[in-house]
Amino acid sequence: MSTPLSTAAVDALRAQTPGTQTTTHFNHAGASLPSSATLEAIHAQLWREATMGQMEAGGFGREQSERARQLAAQLLNAQASEIALTTGNSFAWGAAFAALGRLKSGERILVGRHEWGGNLAAMRIAARRDGVSIEVIPCDASGATDPHALEAMIDERVRLIALTWLPANGGVINPAAAIGQVARRYGIPYFIDGAQAVGQVPVDVVALGCDVLTGAGRKALRGPRGTGLLYVRQDFLSRVTPAFVDTHSAPLDAAGEPVLRNDAARFELAEASLALHGGLANALKEALDIGIDNIRARIDSIAQHLRGQLAALPGVTVLDLGVERSGLIAFNVAGLDASHVQRSLAEQGVTIGSNGVAYTPFDMESRGLQEIARASVSYLTTDAEIDKLLNGIRALLR
Ligand SMILES: Cc1ncc(COP(=O)(O)O)c(C=O)c1O
Repeated sequence: MSTPLSTAAVDALRAQTPGTQTTTHFNHAGASLPSSATLEAIHAQLWREATMGQMEAGGFGREQSERARQLAAQLLNAQASEIALTTGNSFAWGAAFAALGRLKSGERILVGRHEWGGNLAAMRIAARRDGVSIEVIPCDASGATDPHALEAMIDERVRLIALTWLPANGGVINPAAAIGQVARRYGIPYFIDGAQAVGQVPVDVVALGCDVLTGAGRKALRGPRGTGLLYVRQDFLSRVTPAFVDTHSAPLDAAGEPVLRNDAARFELAEASLALHGGLANALKEALDIGIDNIRARIDSIAQHLRGQLAALPGVTVLDLGVERSGLIAFNVAGLDASHVQRSLAEQGVTIGSNGVAYTPFDMESRGLQEIARASVSYLTTDAEIDKLLNGIRALLR
């Protein structure tokens, strides 16, 4: 059992996070700030590698990889054998998608309107190659992906349903479990991009009904860059053959035949940064110790407060969709490009993000948006930081 995050608990967590002393960070959706213990875990393995020899330190490093896998499984309500450690969200998503193999001409891929641009790039290349279509699932009136609209689109040609659960360009939390119920009812493969979800909201892959779910280490989990998670449902494994393999994912048997691993680690390679796995393991442990429900509750309350404050500023338009919302607040400042807002705030020591069309093209185009500024919070975010951000925006408006 975990206890709700008190101000004292947040202060203690901030004291263990060097970045909170040096920057006012509202780009947790881009990448969050790791704790000192996460840095130490990385450093400890690098030191072992430097002093013992890199291969010789591998035994310790592999223990950390397995720890990260176990903790990730716990976080997602999965089996450890269903988790692969990757170098990021895109690698995880792209590897799983490529592992579907060739698609049949005339097949259809149904995607949420907020789908991440990198996933779309992979789908579009395959669509052109194989003659399949990519179709957008309509949204409900709030701007969230509509499971009823999805159901109306289903026929025997639908090969994949892909959803970005918490999009990169506006606070909506899509109804991923309701979409999963449709996918399960019709037996259609279902991929969830959980880059912004893992570490921010409770994730239960069984309840979601997904075949594949991906996550990034560096975002809400506060792990290091260059880490990510790939969940592949055990029963789905036989339907995915990695686009390439190595001595770890498909070792050769005595007859020289490749033996593809029968767990999700078929998506891993022998060579990996074991130091980063150690950092990821520590970040996962911290998230589990704090409690994802507590993290979600605190992010939600901070984001709602900031959203309200931003909306109240004359000249600021909040561009968030949906009813249930994440810690990412999209907005624009009248007369100023989002990238200009980002740069100007950076000069005042406040970091936010900004997106163009390419990150979430269907959604940006459907809303007629060229750019959005985005302020994304963490459970570490304080009222003083929010005041600094708002004052910075007020200064821009003057
Ligand atoms: C929803 C979503 N999907 C995918 C990505 C890409 O993740 P990565 O950089 O780990 O490949 C991002 C990154 O911002 C994202 O927000």
